[in-house]
Amino acid sequence: MEPDLISSLAAGDFQTAWKVPSNIALIKYWGKRGNQLPNNPSLSITLKNAVTITRFHAKKREYNELNKGGVSLKYFFNDRQNKAFEERISRQMTELPAELPFLAEYTIRAESSNTFPYSAGIASSASSMAAVSLFITELEQIHTKSIYTENEFYRRASGLARQFSGSASRSLFGGWTAWGASEAIPESSDYHAVPLLTPLHPVFENPGVAILLISSTPKKVSSTRGHQLMDSHPFAKARYKQARNNLMNLLEALASGNFDQFAQIAENEALTLHSLLMTSSPEGLLLKPESLHVMEAVRDFRKATGTPVCFTLDAGPNILLIYPQEAKKEVATFINKSLFRFCENGKWIDDCMGKGPEKLRY
Ligand code: DP6
Repeated sequence: MEPDLISSLAAGDFQTAWKVPSNIALIKYWGKRGNQLPNNPSLSITLKNAVTITRFHAKKREYNELNKGGVSLKYFFNDRQNKAFEERISRQMTELPAELPFLAEYTIRAESSNTFPYSAGIASSASSMAAVSLFITELEQIHTKSIYTENEFYRRASGLARQFSGSASRSLFGGWTAWGASEAIPESSDYHAVPLLTPLHPVFENPGVAILLISSTPKKVSSTRGHQLMDSHPFAKARYKQARNNLMNLLEALASGNFDQFAQIAENEALTLHSLLMTSSPEGLLLKPESLHVMEAVRDFRKATGTPVCFTLDAGPNILLIYPQEAKKEVATFINKSLFRFCENGKWIDDCMGKGPEKLRY
C-alpha cells in the first residue's frame, strides 16, 4: 500500500485532491444493462494532459443536521457552482450501495477544473467522476477501518466510478485499460476496469493522441440517452458481437505491431458508434461536415504517405488522431497544413498516453 493512499480524518474534517485523466475508447462502450454494466467489453487509452483536478473537503455534519437525509454536496467547476453536476453526483451518491451510508454524515465541497475545453470531445464526466470515486474510496477506508492494497484501492474506485459514468471506470489506471468481461483479458470484469497487462508491441507502448476540436456546440444526444437507445436498436445484437470480435483483433494488432490492422478496427469502431447513433430512433446525427472532411483526409494521408495515423471519435463531432510516437512530427505537420482549417478556431490539443490518476497535496 502506498503510504499516500492512506487517509486520515482530523477533527471531523477530511481533505484530499486528485488529478485524474480522461480516456478515449478504441473499442466503444455503447449499450448497458442493470447497474451500469456494459453490454460489451471496451478498451481505452488513458490520456496524459487532458485532466480534471478536483479538491474535496468533507466536514462532519452536526448531529441535528443528519436527520435531513441524503448527501449534502456542493460542486464547483471553474469557481462556479455547477448545479447539473451537483444534482447528478448527489443523486448517484445517495443511490450508491448501502455500504456507503457514511457519505450522508458529511457536508462535501468539491472544487474542480479541467485542463481541456468543456466540449472538446473528450469526456470530462469520465475524469470528474473518477475523481469523485477516488475521494469516496479514501473516505471509505477511514470509515470501514480497512486498508486496501494499491490494486484493491484503484479497483474499488473504478467500480464506484462505473456507477457514476461507465467510461469513468477506465480513468483509474494508466496506459491501455479494459472494462467489461472478456476471456482475452485476464481479470477483466463488468464491474470495474483493469489495466491491460497483455504484451504490447513497442509501436503501441506510448501512442500520441491529437484532439481536433471540430465544434464546441453542446451535443444534441447525451451518451446516457445514446445507451438507452441501444435497448431497442435493431442492430444491437450484431453490434455486441462485432465489438467482441473487434476487441480480439485489436489485441492481436497491439501485440504484433500491425498498425494497419489497428487503424482499420479503430476507425470501424468510431464509424459504427456513429452509424448506431444515426440509425437509432429518434436518431442522433452528431457528425459535422468538417468531421467527414477530416476522416477522409486522414485516410488519404495514411494511404499516400504510409504514415501510421488513424482516427477515432466519441459520441460527438470532434476527432482524435492516434499514432505511434515516432510519427509525431509528420502528424503535427499534417494537422497544421491540412486539418487545421476544419478545426473550430484552428484549435487542436497535443496529448498522449498517460500514467493514470495522481494524488495531489490539498
Ligand atoms: C461513446 O460513459 O459517457 O464515449 O455510462 O451513461 O455515463 P454513461 O455513459 P458514458 O458513455 C461513453 C460512451 C462513449 C464510448 C466509450 O467511452 O467507451
